[in-house]
Amino acid sequence: MKNIDSKGHVRGESIYLDDIPVRVGTLYGDIFDAPCAHGKIKRVDYSEAEQLPGVVKILTFKDIPGENQIGGIFPDEPLFAEDEVHFWGMPIALILAETEFVARQARKLIRIDIDELPPIVDPREAKAKGSLIFPPRTFKLGEVEQAWEQCDYVFEGSADSEGQEHLYIETQGAYAYQMENGNVRIASSTQGPTAVQRTVAKVLGIPMHKVEVDVTRLGGGFGGKEDQATAWGVMAALAATLLKKPVKIVLHRMDDMRMTGKRHPYKSDFKIGLNKDLKICAYEVAFYQNAGAAADLSPAVMERTLFHATNSYYIPNVTATAYSCKTHLPPNTAFRGFGGPQGMFVIESAIAKAAKELGVAAHEIQQQNLLKDGDEFPYGQIVEHAEAHSTWAKVCDKFDLEALKEEIEAFNANHKHLKKGMALQPVCFGISFTNTAMNNARALVHIYSDGSVGVSTGAVEMGQGVNTKMLQVAANAFSIDPCKVKLETTNTTRVANTSPSAASSTADLNGKALQIACDKLLERLKQTAAKVLKTDVAHISLHDDRVYCKSEPSELSWEQLVQAAFLDRVCLTENGHYATPVIHFDKTKEKGHPFAYHVYGTAIFVVTVDCIRGTYEFDAVKLVHDFGKSMNESIDLGQIEGGLVQGIGWMTMEELKYSKEGKLLSNALSTYKIPDIYSVPKEIQVEALESDGHEMAIKKSKAVGEPPLMYGLGAYFAIQNAVKVYNPDYQLKFDAPFTPEKVLTALYERTNVSVPGV
Ligand code: MTE
Ligand code: HPA
Ligand code: MOS
Repeated sequence: MKNIDSKGHVRGESIYLDDIPVRVGTLYGDIFDAPCAHGKIKRVDYSEAEQLPGVVKILTFKDIPGENQIGGIFPDEPLFAEDEVHFWGMPIALILAETEFVARQARKLIRIDIDELPPIVDPREAKAKGSLIFPPRTFKLGEVEQAWEQCDYVFEGSADSEGQEHLYIETQGAYAYQMENGNVRIASSTQGPTAVQRTVAKVLGIPMHKVEVDVTRLGGGFGGKEDQATAWGVMAALAATLLKKPVKIVLHRMDDMRMTGKRHPYKSDFKIGLNKDLKICAYEVAFYQNAGAAADLSPAVMERTLFHATNSYYIPNVTATAYSCKTHLPPNTAFRGFGGPQGMFVIESAIAKAAKELGVAAHEIQQQNLLKDGDEFPYGQIVEHAEAHSTWAKVCDKFDLEALKEEIEAFNANHKHLKKGMALQPVCFGISFTNTAMNNARALVHIYSDGSVGVSTGAVEMGQGVNTKMLQVAANAFSIDPCKVKLETTNTTRVANTSPSAASSTADLNGKALQIACDKLLERLKQTAAKVLKTDVAHISLHDDRVYCKSEPSELSWEQLVQAAFLDRVCLTENGHYATPVIHFDKTKEKGHPFAYHVYGTAIFVVTVDCIRGTYEFDAVKLVHDFGKSMNESIDLGQIEGGLVQGIGWMTMEELKYSKEGKLLSNALSTYKIPDIYSVPKEIQVEALESDGHEMAIKKSKAVGEPPLMYGLGAYFAIQNAVKVYNPDYQLKFDAPFTPEKVLTALYERTNVSVPGV
């Protein structure tokens, strides 16, 4: 089945926040933000801005009736700065004007006097100064200290990865208007409607039931709108309530890039111990997460870094410690993979380092240590249904790894200035919110008297295709034509207390809730059918828009059945609630069973490096992915391709640069390069692993949103392998992204000073 949005998207008819027709009298909001990363505000002069014709009001923290507080996990983040600023781009005031243009003009007229204080931008510096968001955490398995003595080889190093700008095509925004009795309604481009609702209530000092949040769809979120869509929704609601006018806020691209947090940059130290047979026996790692100026989702992101510190490998002795370091960057936040990729980059770096020192290929070490059933993750969960070996074996077989290796060797022998590199990248990603309590969802189903169906869930459509999957669940449950099902907007008055659409779990959680609601309705309808056809319920089934009796089509169509139930006063509305069973986690012990299941896969990367220029092109990425029983192959393939390319971008070209004063330098698309059609691999081959799926995945179709991003790690190591061929002197470095500049430097670095001919 095609994505139900495909026609609307192609025709430009799909409605995004900015397409909502504005009401008469709408005011436009623009944000005045901190012009430095750290400082004490001495004075702000709004007088000139206030006098600009068309400016209606400028709101600051002083206008907030409730709490000036938007922190999601910890209450450590004001909506508007009070007397200090903590990052460049921190909101200070909201300008409301009759047009967007005037609001922006007014912003330039605001004068601010700040006593600047020294900023911290580096997480190691923050750690050294004791600037942590919350205490460090350690995951432990076995005894590393004792294990080192038994290792034949021990290697140490460090590995750093940079942040990543979400670059959703649709920037952050919200549109709010007052309803009667002081109620407020907000259309928001958020992954977390309930987060917006809860925070609006807190800031306005009103109960949650007075706040309605509605989401049609997002032009991409990628985690950037899990928590960080909230501020703009709150600002719009605050202004709409105070001024009794509709208020629209849509960030311009550069404002969005400057003010919002990104993927967390990490710095890390590792130590890895191996035996002669290449089994990894011990691994010690310390992660320094650059959290930015407030907690935001950093505690949860850091937790997932620890969960994924050993990727797809079984290591009997592990100590992984993580520090959430408070710096003066915008608070960093969720981004596809949610800290997992950062953790996995370090173990892959450790393996690459060991491989270089031992003179073997990294894939020999990787293969020796893949997870199998019965192994234990450092967090106590026992490995079940592992597909690490099966995806590895299939990728090597299907794409003939041995032939590929020979081809690459032959190519490298025959080319002086072009070198090819290869890398294998296994991935293992845990599915569930790491915070057990968040793993629940609800769905509301109405069957209208004409047989058409309306479905509301807590799921937010952000391009990942969840609405199509929800529609499939309902159409399938009733065995009716999908065109009879409509997906409603995601709205807090229809589905309440939702978790954000995140953790790749949206389709599983909301789909299961929807399945429960549909099953309950189906039971009632079958009883009606039995009554009408004067038979036993056990004989009734529904197929292809018709009631079947004893496996034979009856005279009752779906529509007639619904009409009969309606006239018989049967309730045609149902609510489903789902909470993932089995999962639990004890933070005091850092042990438990946090994930419903894991998703596996293995990718092969082949890259060609131009050793004159330092540029590179990916010849191919070939991968075997564990979809389970995919319920929508074209959507799932889209998720693999998108995630893969986004991961490659993070590892290769997306370079976030901050000045030492904490100013974002790569603040526009002219200075921040993301993959385009010319930089995607020339060939992407995706093979499905035929597996049984998992009971806890919706229709056994495993979660697919985030895992493919981590294939992108292979890009780094493939380039590194090509560089190694060209320059035997190259000392491996692990500091992603591997930009062409870094590649060029690596190609020509020399260990001994006297290099003939250079
Ligand atoms: N795909 C598109 N097109 N747009 C997005 O914003 N977000 C990703 C992933 N795929 C995203 C996407 C992220 S970060 C997550 S967590 C999942 O989709 C969320 O959706 P799911 O839970 O339905 O997989
Ligand atoms: N993933 C994504 N978002 C989250 C998570 C998670 O594990 N926990 C809290 N928010
Ligand atoms: Mo995705 S980072 O869990 O929104």
